[in-house]
Amino acid sequence: MKIQLQNLTKKFRSHNKNAPGEVIAVNDFTFEIPDGQLIGLLGPSGCGKSTTLNMICGLEKPTSGRIFFGDRDVTDLPPEFRGVGMVFQNYALYPHLTVAKNILFPLENLKGKDKLSKEEMARRVKEAAALVQIEELMDRKPGELSGGQQQRVAIARALVKMPHVLLLDEPLSNLDARLRLQTREEIRKIQRATGITTVFVTHDQEEAMSISDRIVVMREGVLQQIGKPQEVYDDPANQFVARFLGTPPINLFSARAQGGRIWVGEEAVLPAPGLPDQPVVLGVRPEGLLPAEDGALTCALSGVEVMGRDISVVASHPACQGPTLRAIIAADTPVRPETGSVRFAVKPGKAFVFRAETGDRIRSAT
Ligand SMILES: Nc1ncnc2c1ncn2[C@@H]1O[C@H](COP(=O)(O)OP(=O)(O)OP(=O)(O)O)[C@@H](O)[C@H]1O
Ligand SMILES: [Mg+2]
Repeated sequence: MKIQLQNLTKKFRSHNKNAPGEVIAVNDFTFEIPDGQLIGLLGPSGCGKSTTLNMICGLEKPTSGRIFFGDRDVTDLPPEFRGVGMVFQNYALYPHLTVAKNILFPLENLKGKDKLSKEEMARRVKEAAALVQIEELMDRKPGELSGGQQQRVAIARALVKMPHVLLLDEPLSNLDARLRLQTREEIRKIQRATGITTVFVTHDQEEAMSISDRIVVMREGVLQQIGKPQEVYDDPANQFVARFLGTPPINLFSARAQGGRIWVGEEAVLPAPGLPDQPVVLGVRPEGLLPAEDGALTCALSGVEVMGRDISVVASHPACQGPTLRAIIAADTPVRPETGSVRFAVKPGKAFVFRAETGDRIRSAT
């Protein structure tokens, strides 16, 4: 099922007495989710991810804008008629019900022509439980399950109605690192197997990049960029997106364009023919800093961290916006920590120039 959001806006009245007025949680959001895709909705805490999801499922009414499922305008349709399965941020299982009853619950509530026979309900519950591999837990109560198992019950409960659309709000937030990885692979497998159009909310960029067909990056209610994970990483629309994606994060330098070159301090580090003189921010991915005898950018070398296949060169520079900068290089590259300084060549495809005042990308520059 294709989903379209058109100029979707949600304003909340502020409850803060010192700052009365409105919070614009989602601001003029327009995008299309192609049928059968998994979309990662990514952004920092408070940027409007849950609000967007709640509007798609019908729990929040948009202040303005429309939502379409396929060609059908569902903006005014109550949640129970939308065919949506949702896993909430705090996945709220009913503590007094067994796992089986928790999964069954949405089916028992179907009314009218949607009502199912007892046998059909039992079959669906079994099927959903099998998908997330919790068949042996059916008689337990949620309190007798691990976090990861509870998570899977919540996913089974969302799947049991065979929804056209699956909405997952930070579904892995309560799991440990290993279980997170495992569960996210499971979610991806289930999504592929069922072909359900899915929106997966997270503030974890690595999670979003690894699981999504496309990612949607949000900031303060405003859509920043949509694209395939690699495309957004390689071609960020602005400084915010560039900084949000990637670990270690992109290195940012206060710089200037002058005479057709990008200058960091007194060193010209990149050509930028035709770019008008102006203050800029230069962003360089850690894999875009290459130690070289005659490298243009001279930094103080703090140390080297061995990571196995790669090493991380930790350095600093007065124009760097963070206390340290990092270069990730192959482990066999010679670096001499005892010299106290290191020179880097800047790899053009891994460097981006942003307007200093707005953070917008200057695409013509690199
Ligand atoms: N019912 C409400 N009343 C007033 N303000 C609200 C309400 N719900 C959300 N907000 C505000 O709207 C903004 C977006 O909230 P939302 O819950 O969508 O963020 P989020 O991206 O899901 O954050 P998180 O990652 O912390 O879950 C926040 O500033 C929040 O305080
Ligand atoms: Mg949220």
